Amino acid sequence: MPSDSTSASQHDSLLDLLEAPLARLAEAFAGLPAFASPLDNLANRNAIASVLNEAAVRMGDNYPYFHPLYAGQMMKPPHPVARAAYALAMAINPNNHARDGGRASSEMEIEAVAEIAQMFGFKEHLGHLTSGGTFANLEALWVAGQLAPGKRILASEQAHYTHKRITSVLKLPFDSVASDTSGCMDLNALEDELQRGDVGTVVVTMGSTAVGSVDPLPEILALRDRYGFRVHLDAAYGGYFRLIAGELDEPARSAYLAMDEADSIVVDPHKHGLQPYGCGCVLFRDPAVGRFYKHDSPYTYFTSHQLHLGEISLECSRAGASAVALWATQRLLPLTTDGEFARDLAAGRRAAKELDRRIRADSRFVPFVGRPQLDIVVWQVKGDSLAESSTMAQRVFDRCAVKDLHLALVQLPAAMLAGWRGTYSETITCLRSVLMKREHELWLDAIWERLSSATDLETA
Ligand SMILES: Cc1ncc(COP(=O)(O)O)c(C=O)c1O
Repeated sequence: MPSDSTSASQHDSLLDLLEAPLARLAEAFAGLPAFASPLDNLANRNAIASVLNEAAVRMGDNYPYFHPLYAGQMMKPPHPVARAAYALAMAINPNNHARDGGRASSEMEIEAVAEIAQMFGFKEHLGHLTSGGTFANLEALWVAGQLAPGKRILASEQAHYTHKRITSVLKLPFDSVASDTSGCMDLNALEDELQRGDVGTVVVTMGSTAVGSVDPLPEILALRDRYGFRVHLDAAYGGYFRLIAGELDEPARSAYLAMDEADSIVVDPHKHGLQPYGCGCVLFRDPAVGRFYKHDSPYTYFTSHQLHLGEISLECSRAGASAVALWATQRLLPLTTDGEFARDLAAGRRAAKELDRRIRADSRFVPFVGRPQLDIVVWQVKGDSLAESSTMAQRVFDRCAVKDLHLALVQLPAAMLAGWRGTYSETITCLRSVLMKREHELWLDAIWERLSSATDLETA
């Protein structure tokens, strides 16, 4: 099992890395007269140190998300360059609402977002960072509602739960479209809805949260030609797989290659993009939608005639540090199909395929009907009934945690598990693993050994 450095030593070296850049940044303001800082005073320093120690103790009450044995929810540690760049930017704490609050970091956001738009093949775009995927989707659906007021928004049953909530906030009619047993939007069910003639937007999920399924984008685009509606891609989790589309299996590969034809895309740098939380991104293919954002703030835009990001985003204050972290990460790891960033994504995907292969070969488990399309694996522990399997999944989950292996649980229609002959409405609790760290590939034997021995106790 690979183990070269502990998490503590990684933190130390991160602090070392920051020393010179912090001094460099201070030089830019060296001409200003000195003023007192709370850190000048020893009593203050001691008080701060003591509170930080207390906070460290509290933070120890967490799952070890940074460790390769954490293979549960969609949690990926930010890259050290992102953590360091974020901390560096904190010396300024810029606000990317307007250039008045974040001149340099606004430029960095514009550059970083343009690179993301390029990754998706958008020739032109309007876009910016958001606090996360939910807000990014809200903006995309808000624009959709401005363009087609009162028309319905459709998303698949496996779409993220927030779409229903967002449309209720926006007061737009919403309906779910059935998914097939692989978790992908059912095209016949979609066409039945489209025939009613009142659909404004179809939300296409490029990587569903529960199982990583990819909706059939090329076929949905063909339906757009016939029925006329907007296509919004929720690629909050799965967007970056565009970089390794060539390594995905069909039909996901073709779906990824067609992303440039969408009207809007949401991707979350704080999921697969190695960023700290608070970093989503929304992109529109037609920059003209910027007209909907027009507002007349009497107090924010004075220091520049260039575009202020607050003029094209619904949120007002936003962390400029998020943009600095993203910019630095993409500078170190460019979003190219042959770079390290893409290779790391591919390693997680290989880990998922290998875990799925082992599950399929093991009679103690029942696999998901579909093969993993991205890097999420879902499976069931074989029991005599749905209720028994669900209870066994919970117990395996608990036993794995005792062995430091952290998986996740998910409730799914039983029809999504291989061999199920009952009705679609019956649900089962399954085990789920998101193998989104590059280290997961090297740690797969260690993961399997723990899962296997936790399951032995169950099925012995
Ligand atoms: C597909 C998808 N869309 C939207 C979201 C919501 O994103 P956030 O949690 O950043 O608000 C998620 C979160 O997991 C997601 O997986």
